[in-house]
Amino acid sequence: MTDNNITKDAMYEAVAPDDFESMLQLDRYNARSTAFDKIISATHDHFWDPLDKKYIDFDEPFDMENEALLPEEMVGALHTKYVSDILSDPKDRIRFINASTLRSLSSILHGEQGALNLSASLCHVLYDQGAQEYAANQTREEARHVTAFAKYIKARWGKPVACSPVLQALLVDIIGSPEVYKKIIGMQMLVEGLAMGAFATFFQKLNDPLGRKLMQLVMTDEAFHHKFGKIWADRTVPKLSPEEHIIIEDWAAHCFQTLLFNLVAPSEQRDLYEEFGLDPDKVIAEFQEMATDESRREDMKEATNIFRVLIKTLLNAGIITDRTRAFYGMYVDMDELKAEGDRMVGDDIAEDGIKYLQAINFKDRPANAPSALAAE
Ligand SMILES: [Fe+2]
Ligand SMILES: [Fe+2]
Repeated sequence: MTDNNITKDAMYEAVAPDDFESMLQLDRYNARSTAFDKIISATHDHFWDPLDKKYIDFDEPFDMENEALLPEEMVGALHTKYVSDILSDPKDRIRFINASTLRSLSSILHGEQGALNLSASLCHVLYDQGAQEYAANQTREEARHVTAFAKYIKARWGKPVACSPVLQALLVDIIGSPEVYKKIIGMQMLVEGLAMGAFATFFQKLNDPLGRKLMQLVMTDEAFHHKFGKIWADRTVPKLSPEEHIIIEDWAAHCFQTLLFNLVAPSEQRDLYEEFGLDPDKVIAEFQEMATDESRREDMKEATNIFRVLIKTLLNAGIITDRTRAFYGMYVDMDELKAEGDRMVGDDIAEDGIKYLQAINFKDRPANAPSALAAE
């Protein structure tokens, strides 16, 4: 077992990805951790099937030509005078908003594929069977997310667009990495945290009932995935040496920067601008002007709100110290976050979704069963 994993708790003990022999140790079989059992068994409560119309029906129509999927405030480029002037025809604006939404949803689809492969890779390295069963269960849930987002994109646009190079590089890095801390921070805390924020925002802002339902169903699963990362942090961060803390804190900041860049950097959207006859350099230049304008920046807060959940997770987990605090402070008000307490923006949406699923899954079970999300 290698120290590079920064393992501080037996249930996150890990071996090399190709070390199957270790799995055959006899004393391992009776040492299964029970820490994840409640999360694993809760999976039945929030079961759903993207191929079963009882849960979600991807044939529900939406008028893509005449209706915008998102309000204009959600699409940064439309805040620039240059883009707003050229796309003055309401129909062009709708087309632009919907094309921009395809970019976001394609990122999510590729992220879900990354989560599927990453959780499968955790099965190979985690030594504890309880942790392995958790990871196998997550793999299964991520697989239905890939199916569901692929079906939604097919229904609304036909097909997804390519993964951006920065997101791809991050996913390749964490899936291939033998270090467990890189996987858990990169995926369970950062990507899952961003996903919870993005899904909550899309749930609130999407103009398409099918899209909103998709977000809620996925959130019923993601809330638990995010929790797995939180349990790891609770059991790991307090025991880190100062050197290890620096490694973890820097890795988290690196992942955050990559995800932020992928999501909001106008340089990542060049092909979208070109598709609409816009000069990408002009759009990027106006974006930069906007970033220095206080009132315009307020307008843009909506887009960075997506990062609140994940910054809050890192903050509450004790991963962010004064070394990197200012870096995150550029995007959200850190004192405000600290004062908000533990509750996450997506928790209520996920809980309502779980109730909806329980009603379908357990028609005959008495009401007022305890909330599955409270499981830890
Ligand atoms: Fe997922
Ligand atoms: Fe997930």
